[in-house]
Amino acid sequence: MPVFYDQDTKIFVLETRNTSYIIGINQAGGVQSLHWGEKVNHTDCVNMLKPHSHSSFDPNIEKEKEECCPWGGLFYAEPSIKAVFFDGVRDLKMTYETHTINKSPDELIVTMKDEYYNMEVDLVYRIIEEFDLIERHCIIRNTGEDSFLMENAGSAVWNIPNPDNSKLTYVSGKWAGESQLRQYSLTEGKFVLESRKGFTSPNFNPWFALSNEAADEEYGTVWFGVLAWSGNWKITVEKTSFGNVRVVGGINDFDFGWEMLKGAAFETPVFVGGYSNQGYGEMSRKLHEYQRKYILPKEHADKPRKVLYNSWEATGFNVNAEEQMVLAEKAAKLGVELYVIDDGWFGTRNNDQSGLGDWHVNKNKFPEGLTPLIKKVNALGMDFGIWVEPEMVNPDSELFRAHPDWVYGFPTRIGSLGRNQLVLNLSKDEVKDFILDFMSDLLANNNIKFIKWDMNRPVSEPGWMEVPEKRRKEIWVRHIINLYAIWSKLKSMFPEVVFESCAGGGGRIDLGMMRYADQFWASDNTDAFDRLSIQEGYSYAYCSKAMMCWVTDPINYLNHRKLPIRYRFLSAMMGSLGIGGNLNEWSDEDLGEAGRMVGLYKEIRHIVQEGKQYRLSSPGSGKAAVQYTDDKMNESVVFVLGHSQQFAESPFRIYLKGLAPERTYLVECEGEEVLRMSGGGLKNVGLPIALKGDFGSKIIRIKAVD
Ligand code: DGJ
Repeated sequence: MPVFYDQDTKIFVLETRNTSYIIGINQAGGVQSLHWGEKVNHTDCVNMLKPHSHSSFDPNIEKEKEECCPWGGLFYAEPSIKAVFFDGVRDLKMTYETHTINKSPDELIVTMKDEYYNMEVDLVYRIIEEFDLIERHCIIRNTGEDSFLMENAGSAVWNIPNPDNSKLTYVSGKWAGESQLRQYSLTEGKFVLESRKGFTSPNFNPWFALSNEAADEEYGTVWFGVLAWSGNWKITVEKTSFGNVRVVGGINDFDFGWEMLKGAAFETPVFVGGYSNQGYGEMSRKLHEYQRKYILPKEHADKPRKVLYNSWEATGFNVNAEEQMVLAEKAAKLGVELYVIDDGWFGTRNNDQSGLGDWHVNKNKFPEGLTPLIKKVNALGMDFGIWVEPEMVNPDSELFRAHPDWVYGFPTRIGSLGRNQLVLNLSKDEVKDFILDFMSDLLANNNIKFIKWDMNRPVSEPGWMEVPEKRRKEIWVRHIINLYAIWSKLKSMFPEVVFESCAGGGGRIDLGMMRYADQFWASDNTDAFDRLSIQEGYSYAYCSKAMMCWVTDPINYLNHRKLPIRYRFLSAMMGSLGIGGNLNEWSDEDLGEAGRMVGLYKEIRHIVQEGKQYRLSSPGSGKAAVQYTDDKMNESVVFVLGHSQQFAESPFRIYLKGLAPERTYLVECEGEEVLRMSGGGLKNVGLPIALKGDFGSKIIRIKAVD
């Protein structure tokens, strides 16, 4: 029984395949965390349900361990919920009211109620048994006549057992440098990960992992969580003076307000949490499988991602039918399956200064519209895809001239420009309708099979002055609700179209977006060496199938680093492969090699996109090694990319994972049979690898032969 309630002890038990999550109703009516981790018997937790007072200064320490932390009474740790009632009272006293246990999906809903006001909160727990995950969110309800104002509406509080589990892993980044792994050992205090930019942002990503100090890829206990929200978010990791380690997360309470009218229900984003006793590697594999099975949009979740070509780095804004056709021919020869034109095809968009928002084809560039190019691309055997940035407008555009009131802003302020553009106020339904209309026209009137949806600046001056003051701070949430509604509608109208989420690279990668986006553009940084650490950080929380990676020109536009073509390909082949270079300037030799690499990728993509991922060696060590193995342990592929050979190093060994110890495997490197070894041998004796010179790389294929 995955969920049960023991009436005698007032304890709820949520069981996954390998874990127990145990909470109970304490004497004060609070819902208190008792255990999360290895399977235990709930009766062993009974004595934890008692109050814990330290002094008159800290009388209710057990509140720090509660599952829902309303701000009120003698509670001073990070709250998850805060409200102001109609009469000015800003104090919540919420206690257990009732609960429901549901089957398929296995779910527990605990309802809390304020002792005086008509406010209820459902704490919803849904169990994803096979991956040891629990999806949590809250539903806040106004059951009375008078409205109240929500000032904080967190999704969940996760209590981490044992203060020793204080090593926090997260990612930090910036444009062209997303998803850089960081670790930090908590001492008492709070560590806040957040976005206040109106979107997920490249600076931090909404997930955390807490572990014991010794945890690594394979060993150690790890508690982790990923938040499904693409707007302002906040995850506060706190270690209190009493040693309680707790994580509070959800929509960012900074500048947040939501008016709860009579009968209103506010549903918070899902915050999924899990536990691994085999280090970060197992944590990631559980998340990857969960995403492929439960989160990625159903229409394409099981289909291989096509090899795409995107012309952005080749042409910039200078797109036109003739030159795109030339590139399309070259791309088709390499085996590309999806041809994508990027920014610059519409309005007066010759650079980033004008035209954004005018979603009609630029007739100077495409005199007969998009059709001739699309037909050509289709005749070459490829699908056609296109770039859009619907939430934005250049002040120099027809759209802005017609609707200057459609952007966020304050009357006494000139809106700050970012890349010469302003953000449309998507909280307004007319803006939502405008985007839906032009997108559905574009998709209905052209044979488009792929959309790259970009967003190139954060929200600023978040004014929406037409609505009553109490509602103005709702924009942070309304923007995202309308964004999701648009994507959801477009997905249902055009199920055959694959959608990619991009925000100047990896600024909009999160579990909320993944319910609509089939894939993410991980970074504008296409330097295959830099990309290794970006991809490593990405892989901690997100699956490779959804990670689009391009192979670009021999000398990268960002760092001016020159890299061999094999290295560039092998780096990009660790996710969903794309090509983004200027094929007109590639040598015949490189084009030949590119064709071979695309062919090779097609042979192995089912393993990379659907298999289990093992991070064998971090790029930070100078030798990146990542292995992917299919579910049946029949086939595996290993990518090894070195930085530079030094001090006459001899071959080094990599120790493979996820293979059946007793089975015999054939090991092939660069098409040559190297050796035959057992799965146990590959794990424990290892495989010798020699990388020569700078930026050497190898791909190793392993197949079971028995
Ligand atoms: C930012 C994206 O990340 C790039 O790939 C490209 O689409 C440009 N925007 C186009 O403006």
